[in-house]
Amino acid sequence: MPDHSRDVTDFWNPDLPGRRGYEFARDALHSKAEAVVGDYAAMDLAPLGMFDVVLYLGVLYHMEEPLTCLKKVRSLTTEVAVIETEAIHIEGLEDACLLQFNPGDALRSDYGNWYVPTIGAIHAMCTAAGFSSVRTVVGPPPAPAREPEPRRARLARQAGGLAPLGPPSAPSANYRALVHAFV
Ligand SMILES: C[S@@+](CC[C@H](N)C(=O)[O-])C[C@H]1O[C@@H](n2cnc3c(N)ncnc32)[C@H](O)[C@@H]1O
Repeated sequence: MPDHSRDVTDFWNPDLPGRRGYEFARDALHSKAEAVVGDYAAMDLAPLGMFDVVLYLGVLYHMEEPLTCLKKVRSLTTEVAVIETEAIHIEGLEDACLLQFNPGDALRSDYGNWYVPTIGAIHAMCTAAGFSSVRTVVGPPPAPAREPEPRRARLARQAGGLAPLGPPSAPSANYRALVHAFV
């Protein structure tokens, strides 16, 4: 099981090394942007106010409660939220609203990965979270080339018999999806 105490000791340290790029850009642009470090899923966002554009990049699939977190994104947004996430494409289920659950470290050995949505689920969850419309900016990649049907399966099919059991015939592929969700 993951050691959740590391979230506090390592990840919420205000001197996060990952902030260096952000701080470099902020200084170079003489930006007045203020950094707030906290557990997004748990913290009270109301004191932050609202923003015309909210970037929610690479975070959704790290959330144990993705719909609740999208509602929080909506509560911060006055115009558009830009949402980027790990996503899954399942051939033959293009329009299905599915969340692939990744227990433990099933996805890339990372205990912090939970639900990987289809593009349909991303749209549906954004709508359920209170956004009025959603536009796909980066959607599923073109369907991968199918493996040729195994000879034994083809002969069985042509003979009108049952095809031998084989691997599932619905290949899936992960990719990074990007949508704009409008208030
Ligand atoms: C895949 S990285 C994306 C980083 C950056 N947003 C980007 O697009 O390059 C995931 C980020 O989500 C952050 N994260 C995960 N769970 C979080 C939480 N509960 N609250 C705030 N940030 C969280 C991690 O610290 C990490 O920086």
